[in-house]
Amino acid sequence: TRCWVIIPAAGTGQRMRAALPKQYLPLLGRSVLEHSLSHFMSRQDIAGIIVALAPDDSYWPALEFLGKSSIRCVAGGPERAVSVRNALRELAQLAAPDDWVLVHDAARPCLRASDLDNLLDTLHEHPIGGILAIPVRDTLKRVSAEGVIADTVVREGLWLAQTPQMFRLAMLAEALDQAFTFGHPVTDEASAMELAGHVPCVVEGHSDNLKITRPEDLPLAEFLLSGLNC
Ligand code: C5P
Repeated sequence: TRCWVIIPAAGTGQRMRAALPKQYLPLLGRSVLEHSLSHFMSRQDIAGIIVALAPDDSYWPALEFLGKSSIRCVAGGPERAVSVRNALRELAQLAAPDDWVLVHDAARPCLRASDLDNLLDTLHEHPIGGILAIPVRDTLKRVSAEGVIADTVVREGLWLAQTPQMFRLAMLAEALDQAFTFGHPVTDEASAMELAGHVPCVVEGHSDNLKITRPEDLPLAEFLLSGLNC
């Protein structure tokens, strides 16, 4: 079985309040997206990469980096899950049903190589696959619409889902189609797999694999990247 990578990069990043979509914001001289891609490029154990771009994306053609020509692009959709599904359809032309697919957010540029290695090593013989995640550290509050505490949520057993999320191609495609059919909201691949009755595995990652979401995340990502060897 081979391993393929899908990068959903078709979001608009409205929470960033920036002129550019967040995957194209500059981070240490390169775009966020290039950093996110770089973790998978020139790895012997990755067979190919597919990026889902907004249909009206005008920034990708302007990017210049080594290996860009080996990356396939597909049109993304109005939601992340639709972007992933479009990329899975393209991948079905190239890959075998049992091949692994790693879905990684374009907005997570600080993935540690050791976390990626750990995910691949832990799951390579697993029947279903799984995700990187980290245990919740803080006390969790449910807050009412009025901005007051309604309740404290028991933290035990709660984890934050990250990406890459690694599943077998045909199983994931089927699970996403099923979720769409039933109209269930799908914010990550694992939720579609769970809905289909599968039990994904969890591999503990690190908090530096943050998803760039708000303006203050960018300087933090720069700091983290300059400390990582990537
Ligand atoms: O908006 P959010 O941070 O949840 O997006 C996670 C990832 O999914 C980002 O890399 C974003 O570009 C991507 N995405 C997408 N298609 C959408 C919405 C988000 O590929 N319609």
